Amino acid sequence: MTRRIRSKALACVGMLAAVALGACARHPQSVFRPAGPVARMELGLMATSLWIMIGVFVVVAGALLYVIARFRERKGQEGIPPQVEGSHILEVLWTGIPIILVALLTVLTVRTTFALAKPPASSQHPLQITVVGHQWWWEFKYPQYGIVTADTMHIPVNRKIELSLQSADVLHSFWIPALGGKEDTVPGQTNLLWLEATRTGTFPGQCAEFCGTSHSLMRMYAVSQSPTAFSTWVHGMQHPNSAPKTKLAKQGMQIFATNCALCHSIGGTPFTKGTLGPNLTGLGNRRVIVGGALQNNTQDIIYWVHDAQHIMPDTIMPNFSTLLTPSQLQAVAAYLEGLKRG
Ligand code: CUA
Repeated sequence: MTRRIRSKALACVGMLAAVALGACARHPQSVFRPAGPVARMELGLMATSLWIMIGVFVVVAGALLYVIARFRERKGQEGIPPQVEGSHILEVLWTGIPIILVALLTVLTVRTTFALAKPPASSQHPLQITVVGHQWWWEFKYPQYGIVTADTMHIPVNRKIELSLQSADVLHSFWIPALGGKEDTVPGQTNLLWLEATRTGTFPGQCAEFCGTSHSLMRMYAVSQSPTAFSTWVHGMQHPNSAPKTKLAKQGMQIFATNCALCHSIGGTPFTKGTLGPNLTGLGNRRVIVGGALQNNTQDIIYWVHDAQHIMPDTIMPNFSTLLTPSQLQAVAAYLEGLKRG
């Protein structure tokens, strides 16, 4: 084996091992741990196709190895061995079997595609969520409840979720692997997708279409909750506790009014006009901010407001490093952290 072939072979083995280990790892952002019927159907189709292909590979590679061993040139052998071209049996076999397999794959794929394209019946009371892809964050609107939020999509377990996918700017792709997907968000168009989570938990997702400089930071979470916990969340978002409680937070609210309210809205406050940036209602209760790129704590909020362009290059969120003093940044962070659900 030459050195080049050996290193290529090693690279191939390495990649296969990485794929195999990736499949085994208990990572939540994985199609191998489906948490609902859509993801399960898609995984089933993938597994069936994979097994068919493994079968084909084993048969073809086996036949090849057998032929190489059985019909190799032997000592003392002379002339060309008997030829089999034009063998009717072989021609029929290697034309017929692939046709049957491709037909089988087609039927399975079309059946799954149609099953997934069928929206849930209204008798199943699907929850409507409008998902808007922005450069680079996800917005979730609940028209049935009048709620707007970002980064984390709360859903009740065991209930069909009907998503209307839209884009505010460029092509994005909505993908929460444990629940199913992916589906593009296209400017000027609404794409429909339904999902369901059959167990509670937090399922991470990711924009799956290259959409600009900070595409890789465009993450999101789906939080699947019991119906009671979901109702509590809805109620809390509808009746948020947005009043500043400390002197510092009150000061932060003033700074917010002049610097931030043009782009951000907050439920339960006079700030209702800003739609360019994420709605910040109940921000204090969120686990992550900036699509999961930052944790929700004072330090990270200040870091973000101070230097957004460094964290998320080319975001429309400006750097406030030259506009706000360190103590003003502290005040804004105190105000934002105090925004709680009711
Ligand atoms: Cu949005 Cu990639």
